[in-house]
This record gives sequence, C-alpha cells and structure tokens, in this order.
Amino acid sequence: MKFFDVIKKRRAIRNYLPAPIGEDELKRILEAANSAPSAGNLQSYEIYVVMEKRRRESLARAAREQLFIAGAPVSLVFCTHAALAQERYGKRAERLYSIQDATIACAFAMLAATAQGLGTVWIGAFEPEDVRKVIGAPPGIVPVAILPIGRAADAPEAPERRGVEDLTHWEG
Ligand SMILES: Cc1cc2nc3c(=O)[nH]c(=O)nc-3n(C[C@H](O)[C@H](O)[C@H](O)COP(=O)(O)O)c2cc1C
Repeated sequence: MKFFDVIKKRRAIRNYLPAPIGEDELKRILEAANSAPSAGNLQSYEIYVVMEKRRRESLARAAREQLFIAGAPVSLVFCTHAALAQERYGKRAERLYSIQDATIACAFAMLAATAQGLGTVWIGAFEPEDVRKVIGAPPGIVPVAILPIGRAADAPEAPERRGVEDLTHWEG
C-alpha cells in the first residue's frame, strides 16, 4: 500500500474477526516499531506482546473494561523504560523522551499494521499499574499505549477532524 493510502485508510478498529494474524505480519510490525526514531537513539521503551486469551481478557479489564480489546488476537503494550535515557537526559528523559520514544514506536507499528491490511486502535485509557502486572513488567517499566491488532470486522467512516487551517499556526 502506498504511504498516503495507509494514512487515509487507517481507522480506529474495535471489532475484530477471530482469525489470527501471521507471524510474518507481526514481525514486520515489530520491525517497523524498532525503526522509529528515538531520543539519542537510546530507544527508551519496551514492547510486550499479549496473545494468550486469558491475558488478553485481563488486559481488557485493566483498560477500564474495554472488552473489545480481548477480541483482537494480539495486543502490543508500549511501555516507557526511562532508565535507558536518564543517564544522558535526566528528568527530561523520564518526563518526555521515553514517552515520545514509546509512542512514536507505537505509531510506526500502527501504520505497519494498516499497510498489511490489519486493523488497530490506540488505547490510552487504562490503569498503568494494573496493565504492568498483567504483562509481567518490572517496576520502572510504565505502559503508555496498548495497540490491539487484528482483522477488521467492520469499516468505520472517517470521523470529522478540525480543519488543517484551524490547528496550523503560520508565522507572521
Ligand atoms: C492518545 C489516544 C488515546 C486513545 N484512547 C482510546 C481508548 O482508550 N479507547 C478507544 O476505544 N479508543 C481510543 N483512542 C482512539 C481514538 O478514539 C480514535 O483514534 C479517534 O476517535 C479518531 O478515530 P480514527 O482513529 O478512526 O481516526 C485513542 C487515541 C489516542 C491517539
């Protein structure tokens, strides 16, 4: 798929077919995440792959009962790992860079999934501590985004956006 078709086609998908996603598809998604830029190239984030049905259900419960999450055959949990960047960047690593590193990696993963015809939705509403326990991450690894991935069972319309002119501020 061409890049701008990927951008245009991507929608938040919350209904998935029960079909699994392929190993190759998942590998491409993870490689795309790994190719995202990061502060100082320190990659101060971790990705946890959740596939087991009961763990998917626990993840959905930890995400404020957004139970559709469990319907996706795979969820990726993007977490900050601020310690990897703290030595070089101090507080800014913790407050900003590790979050940016994790979330741009998630954005790359999301687009790589779309490019392969898969559906995703960015999940930000969850209890980080509950999610951390579900994925078995140690303290210091903080979940910031969950990305369920599967084959779309519906095709939502593109929602309205603010106009480009409304959110763009030109100099002068
Ligand atoms: C930071 C962030 C947090 C979000 N959290 C949730 C969420 O917890 N649950 C959900 O169903 N969708 C969530 N979404 C998806 C948005 O609702 C969705 O992207 C938005 O409505 C626009 O629709 P579109 O993605 O199809 O363009 C989130 C998106 C972002 C970027």
